[in-house]
Amino acid sequence: MKVMVVHGPNLNLLGSREVDIYGDQTLEDINALVTAAAADLGVEVEFHQTQREGEIIELLQAGSGRVDGVLLNPAAYSHTSRAIADTIRAVDYPVVEVHLSNIHAREEWRRASVTAEEAVGVVTGFGAGSYVVGLQALKRTLEA
Ligand code: DQA
Repeated sequence: MKVMVVHGPNLNLLGSREVDIYGDQTLEDINALVTAAAADLGVEVEFHQTQREGEIIELLQAGSGRVDGVLLNPAAYSHTSRAIADTIRAVDYPVVEVHLSNIHAREEWRRASVTAEEAVGVVTGFGAGSYVVGLQALKRTLEA
């Protein structure tokens, strides 16, 4: 089972970005945690991070027929990108959306995620743990 992890814009700044909200783990720390969790689950993982909406779309499209599922943190594009939402609809694998922070407990505009409307589910608010729980949920989805 192969899973692609896609981190959206500004997540490369984790560790120094708004540590009161996102914690002090870097993206590399999170990827290491997910790699360890994936090894326990017997899942192969690969990681991508991009600031660009179009690149997220290209990565997702290229995943069809190549990966079994995607763990996606669209970051701020969650709240705006109908284009990414359309891509999630179009691909032939399930997408689990994850957020480090609880998007429902922050500013009003973060509460709606248009990309989440097309995901199989969302894990939000558990820091790096959102990715680990999201990976478990994705595996269960694929095995169901
Ligand atoms: C985020 C939440 C988004 O609202 C925000 O724009 C991010 C990170 C999260 O992981 O908590 O960049 O996706």
